[in-house]
Amino acid sequence: MAEAMSTAEPGESKADAYVRIAKEIAAIVAGEPSHTARYATAACLLSHNFGPRFFWTGFYVVDPDKAAELVVGPYQGTLGCLRIPFGRGVCGAAAATGQTQLVPDVEAFPGHIACDSRTKSEIVVPVFDADGKIAAVLDVDSDQPDAFDAEDQAGLEAICALLLKG
Ligand code: SME
Repeated sequence: MAEAMSTAEPGESKADAYVRIAKEIAAIVAGEPSHTARYATAACLLSHNFGPRFFWTGFYVVDPDKAAELVVGPYQGTLGCLRIPFGRGVCGAAAATGQTQLVPDVEAFPGHIACDSRTKSEIVVPVFDADGKIAAVLDVDSDQPDAFDAEDQAGLEAICALLLKG
């Protein structure tokens, strides 16, 4: 296993950074069956590579004991809410629809849950298991408005797609 996290090359583009981080996550979690370990690895590498733009980076996982409810999983950042019902806020919308939610202004998103009032924009990407069932969502919040774009969406979706495979 790698002893230290890789770091950005000078002049590395954001797209290239996502490719580098995805490879690193895949290498570290290969053969590791624990979803917690996989989510924790991704939260750590994303947060350390993209902080401070990534103000809060982590996972809400589908609670196996409750219908249609997310419970907080591994994360990096300030204190997160513990539970989010499907359909509530940005995470709940991603879980209910199975679609990435890119929100440039959280104040304009109906039902947004303000775990930390400094959050100004966010992106939430669904994580599916091998059967195509929703298993979790990756929530990245920024204290900067309009902090995420299509490159972030593509990069984060690629990482979520590899998380529960291999
Ligand atoms: N932003 C989320 C809530 C979770 S926290 O901010 C960590 C939402 O509205 O879904």
